Amino acid sequence: MTTSFPGSDADEGDEVSDAIDPAIRPAERADLLAVVRIEDESFSQPWPYDAFERFLGEPGFLVATASDANASIVGYIIADTSMTYGRTLGHIKDIAVHPDRRGDGVGSALLRRSIAVLAARGSDTIKLEVRRSNDGAKRLYRSFGFEPLRRVPGYYEDGEDAIIMIRKLE
Ligand SMILES: CC(C)(COP(=O)(O)OP(=O)(O)OC[C@H]1O[C@@H](n2cnc3c(N)ncnc32)[C@H](O)[C@@H]1OP(=O)(O)O)[C@@H](O)C(=O)NCCC(=O)NCCS
Repeated sequence: MTTSFPGSDADEGDEVSDAIDPAIRPAERADLLAVVRIEDESFSQPWPYDAFERFLGEPGFLVATASDANASIVGYIIADTSMTYGRTLGHIKDIAVHPDRRGDGVGSALLRRSIAVLAARGSDTIKLEVRRSNDGAKRLYRSFGFEPLRRVPGYYEDGEDAIIMIRKLE
């Protein structure tokens, strides 16, 4: 999780990478068990089933599927928007890829689509939280133009600090 529980670009480079991107679609109820399984394998303090259930129907809850016969779920992302001081703030709340499928561009594809969804919903800024020690995720976010804004001491239940990262959209 990025949150402690309770650009739509079209240049040539993206056209090339779109050709090899996994299929991404809105999450459905039938996906939830697979999503929770990946969450449990990915985080020491995973979100429970009902946290995901709450986001069904939210345009920013997306899953990536494999090209196998079952189109099995290989990753997911959850993002939403809120109004803050009259502006629409996008918030990426959770992203994970199945451990066997990491390093193949699935996380990047999910993030790219999520940013496009948040931009289409009028977000002018996107924020997320990341564990201070999660260098892989921080590298991924930096490659998408997110910059560290500030540290939140003890943000996670186990006491680890969060780094808040933001990206402004044009
Ligand atoms: C973070 C995560 C979603 C990335 O998904 P992924 O499909 O492996 O990401 P990609 O293959 O698209 O990687 C894109 C870039 O992210 C960075 N990156 C991702 N994971 C990394 C790792 N473990 N170490 C170093 N860099 C990493 C790299 O810059 C990588 O680019 P490269 O392959 O050209 O080096 C995945 O590692 C994951 O599920 N981790 C556990 C859950 C988690 O930490 N979620 C983030 C919470 S804030």
